[in-house]
Amino acid sequence: MRLVVTGREGQVASSLLEAGQRHPGVEVIAIGRPELDLAKPDTVIDTIAAAKPDIVVSAAAYTAVDQAEDEPDLAFAVNAVGAGKVAEAAAQLGVPVIHLSTDYVFDGSASGAYVETDATAPRSVYGASKLAGEQAVAAANPRHLILRTAWVYSPFGKNFVKTMLRLAADRDEISVVADQWGNPTSALDIADAVLHAAATLHGNKSFAAFGVYHLAGTGEANWSGFARHILDTSRVSGGPWARVRDIATMDYPTKARRPANSRLSSAKFASVFGWNAPDWRLSTEAVARRVLV
Ligand SMILES: NC(=O)c1ccc[n+]([C@@H]2O[C@H](COP(=O)([O-])OP(=O)(O)OC[C@H]3O[C@@H](n4cnc5c(N)ncnc54)[C@H](OP(=O)(O)O)[C@@H]3O)[C@@H](O)[C@H]2O)c1
Repeated sequence: MRLVVTGREGQVASSLLEAGQRHPGVEVIAIGRPELDLAKPDTVIDTIAAAKPDIVVSAAAYTAVDQAEDEPDLAFAVNAVGAGKVAEAAAQLGVPVIHLSTDYVFDGSASGAYVETDATAPRSVYGASKLAGEQAVAAANPRHLILRTAWVYSPFGKNFVKTMLRLAADRDEISVVADQWGNPTSALDIADAVLHAAATLHGNKSFAAFGVYHLAGTGEANWSGFARHILDTSRVSGGPWARVRDIATMDYPTKARRPANSRLSSAKFASVFGWNAPDWRLSTEAVARRVLV
């Protein structure tokens, strides 16, 4: 099975490349800029066709949530038009597309964890561009899995785990927002789940349960609780540690508005694909230890 993933150096693409090496019979090819530039839709179809996928994984995205407020055209070009082209390329080749989306399609006003049928109402340009991307993917290729994930971290790229460990090396106390709740999700787990889902699609040509799925770490956290767990893991591993001070979102203004509650229920993914994410604490410990080495 040959998976072609967009976004060569991204967290999910890097994790898939690593995971592919552990699975005999699975080949993962990552493609990215300059050959494949989602902001230049003309580059997309031929580049993906040349990579000869059995399944396309659409993981590349404009992910700078705050910067997107100043660059809405680029965010929509990449996350909506570009994502649609990736799905169209897969459709032309007669193969499914697994597209990554985000918890930020929700406004955060729900009291519990969001399920796939809940109404979307993004609060940010990034969230709106990703929602438009979901619609473009679904329109371009009926054989799609849209996996909404959240709060992604990994040993690769830039992410919250790495930021906390870097800041703790320089200061005694870090202020972190305590009133936004979600599911920290390791890209290593996303890669595992994507390989699992891809094997199901590849092995069952009559698979019919295409559509939207939530796929996030098990268990919930706020950002400050997430930070404390990262730093406590670091301390017991001999790494840097700092006190975490709880602050409110209003004390840490950002350009993009974020949902206060973007918890996702991953029950549908578990029931269709028989795959459950590990508890976020265990996955965080595994990633933090790798970052510390
Ligand atoms: N990170 C999160 O917390 C989070 C949360 C929820 C959902 N998601 C979604 O999960 C997916 C994977 O996220 P991630 O954390 O792996 O992202 P990431 O680490 O930020 O990587 C994004 C990748 O997209 C590539 N990219 C950006 N603009 C591009 C363009 N115009 N053409 C081609 N490639 C382009 C980047 O390439 P360069 O290396 O060339 O810049 C990078 O490799 C994305 O769809 C994201 O929206 C992420």
